[in-house]
Amino acid sequence: INLWKKTMNNIEQTLSIIKPDAIERNLDSEIKKEFINKGFKITKEKKIQLTKSEAEEFYKVHETKPFYNDLCTYLSSGPIVVMILEKEDAVIANREFMGATDPKKAEEGTLRKKFGVSIDKNSVHGSDSVENAKIEINFFFKD
Ligand code: CMP
Repeated sequence: INLWKKTMNNIEQTLSIIKPDAIERNLDSEIKKEFINKGFKITKEKKIQLTKSEAEEFYKVHETKPFYNDLCTYLSSGPIVVMILEKEDAVIANREFMGATDPKKAEEGTLRKKFGVSIDKNSVHGSDSVENAKIEINFFFKD
């Protein structure tokens, strides 16, 4: 039973966003390559720009935080690329690959260490749980 469990794959999907600061610096193809090289499959993607109220809906979990308004203004300030990433344990794998929220604290080899410029302009977003991944995927890709 244990041996069988260890060999079972736990393929998950997670939602990734390449944020306005990275798109503005034309980093989207480089970041997509990073995900692919790390073993993620990009199963869906689109480039869009959110309205302020769509950003507010997306970040609703942060509604009570002092940075909520700036965060929503920022996410809606320019185009973003939203992607569904698929991989074994994709949610945690993506969190680890992104690195700490604050690029100054992000580990070597992480996306935010490499591309992030500040806690707001941290280049990428990723779902923080399997449950939120489903909600976030449904937010951008309802079909
Ligand atoms: P993200 O993973 O997209 O989720 C919420 C975002 O809020 C986070 O990345 C940061 O870019 C942004 N943010 C701004 N200020 C803070 C803060 N003080 N703590 C955490 N997140 C912050």
